[in-house]
Amino acid sequence: MAPSNSPQHWFDLPRAPAPGTAVCTASELPDGQATMLALDTGAGAAQPFRLLLLRDGPQVRAFVNRCPHFGMPLAAKQAQLISKPGVSISCNVHYARFRWSDGGCESGECAGEGLMPVPLVISPDGQLTIAAA
Ligand code: FES
Repeated sequence: MAPSNSPQHWFDLPRAPAPGTAVCTASELPDGQATMLALDTGAGAAQPFRLLLLRDGPQVRAFVNRCPHFGMPLAAKQAQLISKPGVSISCNVHYARFRWSDGGCESGECAGEGLMPVPLVISPDGQLTIAAA
């Protein structure tokens, strides 16, 4: 379990992007895959806000790339990210597994917790921006 003082919402985290912040376009994301993205929210490229973007055709889900177990990214590099497209995504530190559909904990060191969803707006031309909290 995470400490009780852990942030509960993405917007409570350091460097959380403001609503309207551009993320990328859907076409930049491989369909049916989870993509790690480091968003520079003004603190510089060395201190990004880390996202996981899960694309299913025209639909894209976003979660903070932050395991609730130790508060660290699920993987350090894209090539190390463990996912079963459409099913689950896992942390490669202690292998907590989260549902693809909503980021909820499926197994491992995340009971009662989950990945923090980040709301997105997708424009008709596929531009993804951060939605209002
Ligand atoms: S840090 Fe993710 S399972 Fe432990």
